[in-house]
Amino acid sequence: ACNNKVAVLGASGGIGQPLSLLLKHNPAITQLALYDIAHTPGVACDLSHIETGSDVKGYLGDAELGACLEGCDVVVIPAGVPRKPGMTRDDLFNTNASIVRDLVKACTQHCPTAFLLLITNPVNSTVPIASEVCKAAGTYDPGRVIGVTTLDVVRANTFVANLKGLNPADVNVPVVGGHAGKTIIPLISQATPSVEFDPETLDNLTKRIQDAGTEVVNAKAGAGSATLSMAYAGARFTNSLLAALNGKEGVIECGFIKSSETECSYFSTPLLLGKNGIERNLGLGKLSDFETKLVEDAMDELKGSIAKGEKFVSQ
Ligand code: APR
Repeated sequence: ACNNKVAVLGASGGIGQPLSLLLKHNPAITQLALYDIAHTPGVACDLSHIETGSDVKGYLGDAELGACLEGCDVVVIPAGVPRKPGMTRDDLFNTNASIVRDLVKACTQHCPTAFLLLITNPVNSTVPIASEVCKAAGTYDPGRVIGVTTLDVVRANTFVANLKGLNPADVNVPVVGGHAGKTIIPLISQATPSVEFDPETLDNLTKRIQDAGTEVVNAKAGAGSATLSMAYAGARFTNSLLAALNGKEGVIECGFIKSSETECSYFSTPLLLGKNGIERNLGLGKLSDFETKLVEDAMDELKGSIAKGEKFVSQ
């Protein structure tokens, strides 16, 4: 039953390489297809020597993109330029919007029913871009275009665990909203195990989760943004989705999708995954007053980023 083909687009990059390495360890992935505009022959050759089952192939440049995508169940997309200090994720729009548009267009032609997992920033805009491209091609399924916000959950789990002296692996904090600054909304009141913080600590913790990407950008001092933790998060989401598609029950991950949970047309919430993908949107749950305010404060920016992505495709 477990016989999946997964493609990574942007596989030679800072995220793409460790993501591909992690996916090489999933026995459900029998074919791992690595696409980039540079270096994929080397990356694929290197990874192919690892003693796990998946067959790794590299595809280089536009002429080989179709063959890479043919028969894919899941396409993970981290292609594009990363942030430098002083940049917001939105500053990447001009370069990354067209990269995502063109890659997704190829997906609509060569693997129209594949799940598209968007990592390329700004995710708040690239998910609407991908959706609009699929709509134009007549292949759109809102349950199959998902922005990977798992890193926000991973960070929230780690930071909460650190503050409480818990093992991060035992902590789960749902994070909803978008994937940039104040659109990132950790729902600490719904954490398991349940945790309590005084208002000041809660405020600082929330801000740290929202700005954690910038923490990495600054620490890397010009060398880029989060790559290793993002690769981990991308692999976690991909592996969860594949496990659910292959029959595992009760799999829940947050993801940025088409949504009617709020007045934003896309919104990340916990999703119950199953044999057909997203079985059920678990929604926002019961919010604290603090979290209700965070949702309100995110609306304008999130709506703007969504509209910007949609407009880019319609132009
Ligand atoms: N098609 C395929 N790959 C591309 C294309 C394209 N049109 N354009 C660029 N790439 C590849 C680059 O060749 C490079 O290998 O994407 C890769 C990007 O790698 P890095 O520059 O190291 O960037 P990375 O840190 O991996 O971040 C990529 O993910 O989280 C986001 O904000 C981040 O948008 C950024 C993206």
